[in-house]
Amino acid sequence: MVNTNYNGFFKNKRAAISGGATGIGYAIAEMLALEGANTCLISRNEENLIKAVNKIKAKGGQADYRVSDILDVGHIEKIIAEIKPDIFVNNAGDFKEHGLNSSFEEIQKMGQLIFHAPYRIAKDTAEKYNNIDIVTTLSHAAYSPMPGNMSYVPFKAGLMYGLFQIEVELQEEKKKTGIDRNVRLFRVYPGPVNVGNYMELYKKDTAGKFGPPTTAESVATAVLDLLSGKAPTRDVYVAYVPGEGIVNAYFKTKFDPTHLEPYVLSLHSKKIVDPNYKVEK
Ligand SMILES: NC(=O)c1ccc[n+]([C@@H]2O[C@H](COP(=O)([O-])OP(=O)(O)OC[C@H]3O[C@@H](n4cnc5c(N)ncnc54)[C@H](OP(=O)(O)O)[C@@H]3O)[C@@H](O)[C@H]2O)c1
Repeated sequence: MVNTNYNGFFKNKRAAISGGATGIGYAIAEMLALEGANTCLISRNEENLIKAVNKIKAKGGQADYRVSDILDVGHIEKIIAEIKPDIFVNNAGDFKEHGLNSSFEEIQKMGQLIFHAPYRIAKDTAEKYNNIDIVTTLSHAAYSPMPGNMSYVPFKAGLMYGLFQIEVELQEEKKKTGIDRNVRLFRVYPGPVNVGNYMELYKKDTAGKFGPPTTAESVATAVLDLLSGKAPTRDVYVAYVPGEGIVNAYFKTKFDPTHLEPYVLSLHSKKIVDPNYKVEK
């Protein structure tokens, strides 16, 4: 059954979602499909992709899939060229804790997955296509200190900065050519979410190190709000905040390429989305 929460905004739009078979990516894919988009889920495990596609179809949405590894950037770019999406959700990733005892190879591998590949894919897509929206799943870790992690935190921050740099390049191109190619970049910064590796860590955690999670659906709603213009800015943090419920905090980004730290996120506005949400461990 197709929903109408967004007044048909997503109807017949083509959307490709990396990491779309599970977790946050799946929640975004399902919500887009139920709003009428033609979705294409991209990841490595074909069994998971088939399950996810069937689940979306059983609910009345349109979905298809491609098996691909985002580390093979050229292959992902071929898929994007073939699908020509109106929306690309740059979401595939992973979470691991790496400390001083982690090997350089492990850390480097994480960098390839959550920084180099998504940055390269976003940059090439933004440069090649017109009329496209690119949403990247970052993390609270991208802008907030989270001690003791040598890979996830700096690489998500690096990806955030890389995406801001692409924005600056797009603005400069527009100034130079006078042409607006209508390429829009959006960023979502979830706090902990009840999917993926996070739930294992949260359930085992007796020291209170890992905070209570929000839901993948709340992240998906925030993403559709961004894309449909319901959100006031292009950057949204989504998390469960004890005492407040599920919260969306919208950031404004300030670009000043002449400054040494040119890109600053500052709070634009905050919305309590679900004050009654209860977290179960
Ligand atoms: N869960 C959280 O608390 C949380 C919080 C903030 C941000 N995030 C971010 O949200 C994004 C989604 O994570 P999730 O929590 O939803 O976890 P998830 O359920 O494990 O989803 C990750 C997805 O990415 C795919 N993937 C992983 N490596 C890939 C590769 N090399 N090529 C193609 N696809 C790949 C996985 O499928 P295959 O293994 O089949 O390829 C899977 O579908 C990630 O970028 C993560 O860093 C998560």
